[in-house]
Amino acid sequence: MPVLLVTGSSGLIGSEVCVHFSALGWEIHGIDNNQRAAFFGPQGDTRWNQKRLQSTLPAFHHHELDIRDRSGLVRLLGDLRPAAIVHTAAQPSHDRAAAIPFDDFDTNAVGTLNLLEAARQGCPEAPFVHMSTNKVYGDRPNGIPLVELDTRWDYADPAFADGIPESYSIDQSKHSLFGASKVAADVMVQEYGRYFGLPTCCLRGGCLTGPNHSGVELHGFLSYLVKCNLEGRGYKVFGYKGKQVRDNIHSHDVARFIEEFIRAPRPGEVYNIGGGRANSCSILEAFQITASLTGRAQTSSYLEENRIGDHICYISDLSKMRAHYPAWDITISLPEIIGQIVDAWKSRPRAA
Ligand SMILES: NC(=O)c1ccc[n+]([C@@H]2O[C@H](COP(=O)([O-])OP(=O)(O)OC[C@H]3O[C@@H](n4cnc5c(N)ncnc54)[C@H](O)[C@@H]3O)[C@@H](O)[C@H]2O)c1
Repeated sequence: MPVLLVTGSSGLIGSEVCVHFSALGWEIHGIDNNQRAAFFGPQGDTRWNQKRLQSTLPAFHHHELDIRDRSGLVRLLGDLRPAAIVHTAAQPSHDRAAAIPFDDFDTNAVGTLNLLEAARQGCPEAPFVHMSTNKVYGDRPNGIPLVELDTRWDYADPAFADGIPESYSIDQSKHSLFGASKVAADVMVQEYGRYFGLPTCCLRGGCLTGPNHSGVELHGFLSYLVKCNLEGRGYKVFGYKGKQVRDNIHSHDVARFIEEFIRAPRPGEVYNIGGGRANSCSILEAFQITASLTGRAQTSSYLEENRIGDHICYISDLSKMRAHYPAWDITISLPEIIGQIVDAWKSRPRAA
């Protein structure tokens, strides 16, 4: 059985990757210390997901390890010598990073370096997939001319009709501390590919979502929005008239791309991964789709001030992914994603 190491295994993407590769017959080793609960409080607790993996996957091994523990990682990777590594553990929120700059940088930047170096020492042949983010582009996408439609903003410049490509500059824009720590990790992952020849790649995520997200106000917008709808709670909209656009991809389609990369790695590559135009929506449109599925109108409040560094319209250009890996494409539509999130919140055990 090939061995897969997944960091952040109790989180949204990590757990999906564990389930996906387990079904392909891999032995899975997950690293997670429930740091999401430390970052976001009990609502961010991911123990329920860890327990789900432990009780449902036949060859899943949980490691209660912090990716900031450099020697712990060297020991574990040296022992396991995994055939592939998927790195999803992170402090994932803009707003949270400002309050905890050292925890954010130590986790996102230094934790990634710890893992890369442990991989170089223990298993340099193993494909290494890093979850990066579209926030590496900072707020530069907000400089693209926009057109205001009834329920959303859209790009006025036809050059961006398919969305933002990987060649877009990551430099000289406002990133938030989170975006900056993720830039450091992204560039380091590319460097271990280009300089040391490790089969690494960065996946710069748009909105990654799905039924297993522990959505909170500061991270996981669709998951949190659906939760607010079901609980009859008001959703706070931060600026841009609620017309800000996100492209949403189901975590299963992310895991399917990771499988493609691991099968045929291209060292040092970077891909924008999101739902693309077809799976994009504004907050107002997400309210409508959710209400049509739950039968409950969404209540909301509006704050004039947008979140610092927040994108007004972000759509990932998926053409490079499709060109390099033609067997891959989006398979789960936006209404289907929201439907699954609705069902999941209705049945999920509450955090301890
Ligand atoms: N969800 C999104 O919309 C989105 C968008 C773009 C990029 N990303 C990136 O994708 C990755 C996965 O995101 P997600 O939504 O699955 O996040 P998540 O918060 O659901 O999962 C991350 C997991 O990592 C764990 N973790 C955090 N710090 C840790 C540490 N120091 N040691 C061990 N475990 C730790 C957390 O407990 C959590 O279970 C992150 O790198 C994130 O920045 C996510």
